[in-house]
Amino acid sequence: MTLDDPTAFADARAALYDATRIAFFTGAGMSAESGIPTFRDALTGLWERFDPMLLASIEGFEADPALVWGWYEWRRQKVMQAQPNAGHAAIATFAAQAKPRQVAVVTQNVDDLHERAGTCNAAEIVHLHGSILAPRCSVCATPAAEALINAMPDEPEGGRRLTPPRCDVCGGSMRPGVVWFGESLPADAFDRAAKLAQSADAFVVVGTSGVVEPAASLVRHARRHGATVIVIDPNDSALTREAHFWIAGSAAHALPSLLRA
Ligand code: OAD
Repeated sequence: MTLDDPTAFADARAALYDATRIAFFTGAGMSAESGIPTFRDALTGLWERFDPMLLASIEGFEADPALVWGWYEWRRQKVMQAQPNAGHAAIATFAAQAKPRQVAVVTQNVDDLHERAGTCNAAEIVHLHGSILAPRCSVCATPAAEALINAMPDEPEGGRRLTPPRCDVCGGSMRPGVVWFGESLPADAFDRAAKLAQSADAFVVVGTSGVVEPAASLVRHARRHGATVIVIDPNDSALTREAHFWIAGSAAHALPSLLRA
């Protein structure tokens, strides 16, 4: 359906407002209107222009740490410069006004835009794929020093080769704090997300293509356990066919309409 289909839209809103436990499941499309590119959109997606096996795998990092570190510093800069959009704000407002209903956000995004929109004041936020703002040692996992985390990198479009800093504790190379292809998700985050999916009455999926597992399995898990699945995505995806309601609109347009009190 589109935002112009009043009956279906009203049904989706009714399902949401009837729910006691609501979980939002967000992907790169959630932050697209904040100026952070998605991965797989035609023409604009990062994986259209950059090779994920070089830039998002431990093998790529070991082969060329400076290439990978420079690229993530460029992306970290984009995240630090971005602002939450109207979709992030709508989720934050909804969460703040939802009591006694429980609201949670499970995100695949490595940015902090849900937090900066204020959602963390009223709802739990689970990061499945780590944080681009939290580098850690590739050997001993010690988190990066505050000075590095707070520094605003000044990287050109696409990044440049940049030697990763050394860990103060063991001297190993720092690495981005994100999950790469072939790596396991943080177990506590995935367990928590699975519990939220299992107990949700409404599961609102925003801006994810649903091709990366195990994250995408959460949608099937939620549906199997009785949640009404609402998908917001301007494009057809692997997840729109899992939806009870597919709202073909963007996060910053559709979420404020869906969630307005
Ligand atoms: P994708 O780039 O695969 O999918 C983005 C989805 O957002 C697509 O279905 C788009 O149609 C949709 N979209 C685009 N603009 C939108 C907008 N303004 N509003 C709403 N939806 C919009 O991104 P993810 O599904 O998040 O992994 O990708 C999953 C994982 O693959 C990422 O977490 C990342 C990547 O490799 C890691 O970082 C580990």
